[in-house]
Amino acid sequence: MDDISFAFIGTAFHAPKRGYIEILENMFIAVGFDGRIKTISKSDTPECKHLCDKLLSKKALHRLKEEQFLLPGFIDLHIHAPQWPQLGKALDKPLYEWLQKNTFPLEARYAETAFARAVYEKMVSSLLSNGTTTALYFATIHNEASLALAEICIEKGQRAFVGRVAMDNPLQCPDYYRDVSAEAAIDGTRQFIKSVKSLAGNKDGFVKPVITPRFIPSCTDPLLDGLGLIASECGCHIQTHCSESDWEHSYVIDRLGRSDTEALRDFGLLTRHTILAHSNFLGPSDMDVIKEAGSGIAHCPLSNAYFSNSVFPLRTALEKGLRVGLGTDISGGHSPSIFDTCRMAVTSSRMLEDGVDPSISQGDRGTQLRRIDFREAFWLATVGGADVLDIPTGLFAKENYFDAIVIDTSVDQSNIDLKNNLDTLDDVFQKIIHNAGRTNIIQTWVSGRLIQ
Ligand code: GUN
Ligand code: FE
Repeated sequence: MDDISFAFIGTAFHAPKRGYIEILENMFIAVGFDGRIKTISKSDTPECKHLCDKLLSKKALHRLKEEQFLLPGFIDLHIHAPQWPQLGKALDKPLYEWLQKNTFPLEARYAETAFARAVYEKMVSSLLSNGTTTALYFATIHNEASLALAEICIEKGQRAFVGRVAMDNPLQCPDYYRDVSAEAAIDGTRQFIKSVKSLAGNKDGFVKPVITPRFIPSCTDPLLDGLGLIASECGCHIQTHCSESDWEHSYVIDRLGRSDTEALRDFGLLTRHTILAHSNFLGPSDMDVIKEAGSGIAHCPLSNAYFSNSVFPLRTALEKGLRVGLGTDISGGHSPSIFDTCRMAVTSSRMLEDGVDPSISQGDRGTQLRRIDFREAFWLATVGGADVLDIPTGLFAKENYFDAIVIDTSVDQSNIDLKNNLDTLDDVFQKIIHNAGRTNIIQTWVSGRLIQ
């Protein structure tokens, strides 16, 4: 009892296995002062009742109402923090033009740290309100602004992995937004890793630095080599874009005579702590290479619809045993919500399976058995993401961090209506995945702290 900070009583959902949702009905979940789950049990046992009485007297018992439910917090495996002001804009352009005309000019503004702070404060709060308890961020090439993002995550209590972007290729990056040399990007990355590790309030590594070559086109070979060396020295996480679009995939093959995956491996950038965004154009041997390295994939289904010219073969990757989670890819994707990302993952997999051109006969139109369902999408958004990042969260299990959201289906303006006595708890979960929005998320908890 002495190590218990507070407890919840109520009904929770989580996904202990891909494709299987466990309903924890009327459960007692107790959380320690270290932010980790200490007890999960039925709430009507004598031991539990005794504990509840004690917690009640300390005002440390949260009893959910019948129409409220606990879910693990979401993990966003791919998000560009500086693109927040661009959310919902410029989605009618192809990737190359979007980068050169819209995205690089916006990201260049983060040379001004006050501008960065104002954007990042708002963005982190919005993500927490949308239920994202862990995020893997691309920042910009600016050390000071990137460090401000790490500080804001600590201040606001969002578990985060933050990358100072490295990009030095003068043939692909404009003069006004580029590391002046490979050495400058390598030194900047080293300095950033050191600064994040020594930030006040970050002793336990709540926010972690990430080695972040933007993507191969933006980086020269010496930079990629140098970042691979840093990775081998520090064991940090690595993130980059991989085989995203026709243009990007072909560019790398033309320049290096190999796929993104093979090239990243050869530069020492494919490790168990690497997260590859998109990865739409992986060939069968690329999947083998990724599996061998143990790297993870951030599947970004909404952004893929705009910029990737294809649908990621998600089920193929899962069946091969690759580690996969979900990413919003803000602002390539226009929604900050991982609920929306789950829906888009399901929708795009259905389109991959059925095909999209009605002039082609049914048997030839699609790719058989490629769909995923809402249960698998939720697993990707929680357990899958936690596995890719190697963090003990995503599931209500003993000693996992208590990262959770409380869903209230009865709030004003809710798109979920349960007052018809027609819904089983299985139906309730399905309705939450398909129809919950920001208004339904009434609390966000990270590491046992109520954050929003
Ligand atoms: N490839 C390189 N940079 C980016 C980016 O910011 N967004 C997306 N979607 N792809 C990229
Ligand atoms: Fe991206």
